[in-house]
Amino acid sequence: MTGPLRILGIESSCDETAAAVLEDGRVLSNVVAGQAVHAAWGGVVPELASRAHQEHIVPVVEAALREAGLPPTGLSAVAFTQGPGLIGALHVGAAYAKSFAQALGLPLLAVDHMRAHVLAHFIRDDQHRPAPEFPFLNLTVSGGHTLIVLVRSALDMVAIGSTLDDAAGEAFDKGAKLLGLPYPGGPQVDALAAQGDPGRFRLPRPNVPDLDLSFSGTKSAFRNLVLPLRGPDGHLPSDLLPDLCATLQQAILDQVFAKLSLAVERTGITRIGIAGGVSANRGLRARLVELAAARGWTVHIPPIAYCTDNAAMVAMAGDLLLRAGRTAGLEVVPQARIPQR
Ligand code: KG4
Ligand code: ZN
Repeated sequence: MTGPLRILGIESSCDETAAAVLEDGRVLSNVVAGQAVHAAWGGVVPELASRAHQEHIVPVVEAALREAGLPPTGLSAVAFTQGPGLIGALHVGAAYAKSFAQALGLPLLAVDHMRAHVLAHFIRDDQHRPAPEFPFLNLTVSGGHTLIVLVRSALDMVAIGSTLDDAAGEAFDKGAKLLGLPYPGGPQVDALAAQGDPGRFRLPRPNVPDLDLSFSGTKSAFRNLVLPLRGPDGHLPSDLLPDLCATLQQAILDQVFAKLSLAVERTGITRIGIAGGVSANRGLRARLVELAAARGWTVHIPPIAYCTDNAAMVAMAGDLLLRAGRTAGLEVVPQARIPQR
């Protein structure tokens, strides 16, 4: 390969339609269209997500190319999210990426969304952030997954811990729903928790072996805590919200950090990265920085735009796959599930 590699990334695994162009890992454009349509339903409705992706995909890709200042013929390859995710949503991005690649005779790259979250650490932009050295541990916390990943190299990684039931983001979102907060509730719990006292109420901590996690017990315990606090009109007194959010957030983060600390102890690796939507949580970021200072860990915290779902991370993963010669055939199909260990 000669000259710079310019990769178009396309992401459509859940409820964001996103496209980005990277040149040798440097961001030329990063466009994300959210889907407000789900808020009324209190969660992502797969059928509505697929329709919204169909509506957004063409203008989002056009915007990414325009912002990058490139005609489609200036691209080296097209990368798309193969999975895991909502199958109908994935089909939209996959079909579009395949047609695009075929029409322009470009190589196609099939990207694992969870690996792309980890590879977001290698995206280059104007801020000076050193990329993690290998091996490192990555805490990938999103609405669909909670993983502790041992990253041996860019293309060699394995989850050494995983949630047995709900993801951390789900625990935030379902807890927020119980409190009457709009979807997705994670950012609102984060904001309210900052003003609350996590010691006012108590939630049990689960006892899960090894590096695995579980949030279903936290969810049930939170429900049992919140329901009796509702008034006769079924509403929660709003002055309880900050303390309840702080209690929920602390219970989720206590477990996450207990398992992350155990992973450091077991592997001896003290380089830690975070990724996924929940890694935008201010409490999580502050606690990670504090723990790292106390224990001598090196931490890698990407900007929030590369933590939540985005296509720059997909293009970054595509860049690394292309350099390794791992292109996909046009017969490649999306996969709702991709085992991570
Ligand atoms: O990675 P992501 O954008 O999409 C998935 O692949 O799931 O993660 C979305 C999740 C949602 O559950 C959302 O509530 C959560 O990330 N989230 C947060 C925060 N920002 C987003 N959770 C807690 N605190 C936040 N600040
Ligand atoms: Zn994600």
